[in-house]
Amino acid sequence: MSREQDISIAVVTGGGNGIGAALCRRLAEDGIRVVVIDLNKEAAERVAAEINGVAYRTDVSDEAAMIAMIGDVEAKVGPIDLFASNAGVVFGDGKSGSASADGVLSDIADRWDTSWRVNVMAHVYATRALLPLMTARGGGFLVNTVSAAGFLSSIGDAAYSATKHAALGFAEAVAIRHGDDGIKVSVVCPQAVATNMLDLATGPGAAENVFGGADADGIATPEEVADEIVKGVTAGQFMIVPHPEVIGYFQHKAANYDRWIGGMRKLRRTLGEAK
Ligand SMILES: NC(=O)c1ccc[n+]([C@@H]2O[C@H](COP(=O)([O-])OP(=O)(O)OC[C@H]3O[C@@H](n4cnc5c(N)ncnc54)[C@H](O)[C@@H]3O)[C@@H](O)[C@H]2O)c1
Repeated sequence: MSREQDISIAVVTGGGNGIGAALCRRLAEDGIRVVVIDLNKEAAERVAAEINGVAYRTDVSDEAAMIAMIGDVEAKVGPIDLFASNAGVVFGDGKSGSASADGVLSDIADRWDTSWRVNVMAHVYATRALLPLMTARGGGFLVNTVSAAGFLSSIGDAAYSATKHAALGFAEAVAIRHGDDGIKVSVVCPQAVATNMLDLATGPGAAENVFGGADADGIATPEEVADEIVKGVTAGQFMIVPHPEVIGYFQHKAANYDRWIGGMRKLRRTLGEAK
């Protein structure tokens, strides 16, 4: 990546762990100066120290904090060429079903509100702050981690499924509206990846199979996903899918929505009552 793509400086949110941390390391290997953003200050600092990067503790769901961080990076590190909105949260449906506020995976005041702010609005905040800067410079890269749940569904997690669909819709709109200004948008849509998020979904205390069968096609490593991201961005791809099977599922869904809903119900029954 780097020189050919004119990427010198990249910011990665949720860079302290999982896919974000792997992406930080992968970008740094290409000689890119990486800014690691996380709610978890120690995790961001640990990754930044490894790769001679810069760490910020920023809550991506707080627009004022995002504006301040982006302004500070632009002033102290330099113009942001690539911004990876990667931080995300998952809570699982509450015991009382898809529309309940509570989450099965952890205590949360309202999982819908938090999921909406982290999984969707954080992408909007970053884009809103960066578009004028990137457009004035002739372009830039916006790489948003969505999920295969953004066009399929995560069984047993309505808030995750709905907010990831919204994140995909937002990215499509930006790609269509701002592509001619040199803004290159990519979405990353994996199924299961071996990170804390998956541990949270399958570890002790969590409902069984809470990840909604997303591991059926194998569990990718964060490093594999980071490689796919770099390959996809280099190729100028909008849709980056580390698990290629999901495109077939997407086509199947588009071809016959009702049959697809029926198939998902059947899959849910095989996953057990927890779903
Ligand atoms: N792990 C999977 O199976 C999987 C599958 C598809 C998509 N994804 C998506 O990949 C992205 C990265 O997830 P991961 O699996 O690496 O999870 P992870 O839990 O390992 O890492 C997520 C990081 O985001 C940070 N974070 C959470 N809320 C934040 C906030 N408000 N502000 C700043 N940082 C915050 C966390 O501290 C953590 O370091 C997410 O958007 C997730 O939805 C994950």
